Amino acid sequence: MDLRQRVFEVFHQRFGEDPEFFARAPGRVNLLGEHVDYNEGFVLPAAINWDTLVAFRRSRSLHSTLLALDLGEETSFDCQTVLDRQDITGAELSVWARYPAGVMWSMNTAGLDTPGMEAVFASDVPRGAGLSSSASVEMAFGVAWEKLGSWTVAPIQLAQIGLKAENQYVGVHCGIMDQFASACGVKDRLLYLDCRSLEWRTVYLPEKAFIVIADTSVRRSLTGSGYNERHAACEEAVRILQDYLPGIRALRDVRVNEFRRYAGHLPVIVAKRAQHIVEEIARTEQAVELLEKNDAVGFGALMNVCHTSLRDLYEVSCPELNTMAALAQSLPGCYGARLTGAGFGGCTVNLVAGEAVETFSRDLSAGYTQETGLKPEIYVCRAADGAGVEKG
Ligand code: GLA
Repeated sequence: MDLRQRVFEVFHQRFGEDPEFFARAPGRVNLLGEHVDYNEGFVLPAAINWDTLVAFRRSRSLHSTLLALDLGEETSFDCQTVLDRQDITGAELSVWARYPAGVMWSMNTAGLDTPGMEAVFASDVPRGAGLSSSASVEMAFGVAWEKLGSWTVAPIQLAQIGLKAENQYVGVHCGIMDQFASACGVKDRLLYLDCRSLEWRTVYLPEKAFIVIADTSVRRSLTGSGYNERHAACEEAVRILQDYLPGIRALRDVRVNEFRRYAGHLPVIVAKRAQHIVEEIARTEQAVELLEKNDAVGFGALMNVCHTSLRDLYEVSCPELNTMAALAQSLPGCYGARLTGAGFGGCTVNLVAGEAVETFSRDLSAGYTQETGLKPEIYVCRAADGAGVEKG
């Protein structure tokens, strides 16, 4: 049964009527510009054809009741209880509930009304795989409350609302890339975002090249602390480099040659982290020029360099991701392969020539199983539109 049918039927059982609307928001895959969003750099993600789907209607009471179908859990909260991260019985909100509750809180702090809703939701974005399942939950509830609240904001503002929820309510110091891609996705296009100005435009994939996602099946464990630690190291680099480059505000402002001149003043680990960021920002700028010339080979080579940098300098890879990327890079028709998202487990993204996709997927899967004993999932994915609401 497809996702829509499942949430529809469970909604009907749970609330006794059909849902009024469906909200949908996709996960994302990032092609280049990894860990640079919180350094005010450039990113190149696409929304993907996997979604979180919310069946919903306005509730007759003031509170919202949400049923998470994938977890078999339900919660109810309102504008008051979310201030204390509690449900209406006074119990602490569980981790999954903090995403929609955080969105409600963030909307309320912006003066936006969030009427009570009854909702059932489920997702086919794999959790913990680096494909932004949490941002897709935030953006799906974002457009759902926008519908019920009878106000509208631009998709990029919805992304900012989700970011505030994640930073200040959930407590992950992430950047805006995931919420942006989920809210602003455009079918068949990559999105090129300047994370400082929030200006963005779309870019075509190279002709006849496909995005293949390979899930190592290893789930990240350290992300919370590992991620926030990386963010803190970048901030430390900025603080120290400001003594030599007083005009800088973020690593975005440091050019590669300037970095080389002053890197010796940084603690060794901080220098490695900052080197990845400064070079990755330059790589992403260069990558867009290559894409605009339809240069799949040149673009893929930058993806490979990015993986090495994430592995050796930013140190967010793991043995299984390294095996998957190295295997892919050795296969015919693969332009480039690297880990995607925060790292520590999850997926690689591969750019593959159309005629090679089938053999590539088969050989990658077999080779990975042979080397690791694990069974991966390999998907050819399509760039999709961002979050939206339909009538039920
Ligand atoms: C996670 C975060 C994003 C971004 C990526 C790494 O997905 O949510 O903001 O920092 O990691 O590029």
